[in-house]
Formats: sequence, structure tokens, C-alpha cells
Amino acid sequence: MKLFIDTANVEDIEALAPLGIIDGVTTNPSLLAKVGGDPRAVLKRICDVVQGPVSAEVVATDSDGMVREGRELAAIDPHIVVKVPFGKAGVQACRTLTTEGTRVNVTLIFSAAQALLAAKVGASFVSPFVGRLDDIGTSGMDLIAQIVEIFENFDFSTEVLVASIRGPIHVIESARIGADVCTCPPKAIEALFTHPLTGIGLEKFLADWDKAQQPVG
Ligand code: G3P
Repeated sequence: MKLFIDTANVEDIEALAPLGIIDGVTTNPSLLAKVGGDPRAVLKRICDVVQGPVSAEVVATDSDGMVREGRELAAIDPHIVVKVPFGKAGVQACRTLTTEGTRVNVTLIFSAAQALLAAKVGASFVSPFVGRLDDIGTSGMDLIAQIVEIFENFDFSTEVLVASIRGPIHVIESARIGADVCTCPPKAIEALFTHPLTGIGLEKFLADWDKAQQPVG
């Protein structure tokens, strides 16, 4: 399973990139607004750091506007994947952009029917938001299982990109189900490294080693 980082913070990406675990980046208007500056320059810097797909979202709400913005975003760097929100306008824009050879990530997916429609128009990725579904008392992971099953039934090449990840359980469950990608905020990636027994175990190894170095008697 691929691991993307869900942030527009270049420093956070630069800190994790050398570890070799980051396969791509997802951004959205909220994340770009949070870091400020010229969004196109930020996206270019991100593309220079991570040699993988970098999702950049349109803000137009009509299909023509989405296509226009999508073309501009795609021109920033070959790694850019244009993100469009799900809906009739988004589906239509996805169809046009994919026909032109631009990769599209259809976002704000909250049902398997929406994922199916996005796959039918050639989306490279669909982004179901598991955390936001959990937040309203439904199961985000059930939705991932449904989408993976449907895409397998019909051999869709669209990748299931699990978004709105809150912690390691979402990542582990996504991997068990067979989702293609998880996009995690930096905090959630940090949490993947952490287990109390790893820390305790290392402390004991080092303490035992130090003890063994003391002169006998
Ligand atoms: O990038 C979209 C998605 O990951 C947002 O997550 O935490 O705002 O629900 P969140």
C-alpha cells in the first residue's frame, strides 16, 4: 500500500521524504490556505521534494471552470494530479481532463455509488473520507471495503486513496482491506512509528549494554 502525506507544509514533507516511506502528497484548499503564500509556488516546491503524485484541488464549482483550473494546475509540474470535488460538475470535468491525459483525483467521496461514478469517467484516484464518516457515527472502513470490492469486480484501474485518516487503525485496516493508498496528516504518520514497547525495549537493550561495559568487581 502506498503512503501519501496529507499536507501543504513543505518543511513537514522535507523532514519525512529522506525516510523513503512517502509515495506522494495530497493537498486541498484548506491545507494550502493554512500555509499561506502563492499556492502554485508551494505546489511546485512540493513536486520538487516528492517524486510522486501531488494532488492539487480546483476551487471552481462549474465544470468548465474546473477544467480551466485543472489545466493550469497540471501545467505546474508533471507530478500534479488534479483534484475535483465529487458532483455532476466534478464528474464531467474529470471526464474531460482524463480524456486530455491529465490524472484526476475525485475527492469528497462518501458513498460507494459516488466512487463507482468517478471510476466510470476514468478517475486515477477516488478519495473517500473515512474520519469524517466515523465522526458522524457511520463506518468509514466499511465504505473502503465496498469500494475495493466493486473496483475489483469490474477491474477498474482507479486507485482507492483513503483520506481523512485519524490514526494508525485507519492505516492498518486500509492495508488489510487492500486499499491502494492512505494519505495521512504528519501527526498520523508520526503515530505509525510509535509503540510504547519499542521505546521500553530499546531503553532496556541500551541499559544492559552499558552495564556490560562496567569493569567487573
Ligand atoms: O485531504 C482531504 C482529507 O484528508 C481531509 O481530512 O481530517 O479534514 O477530515 P480531514
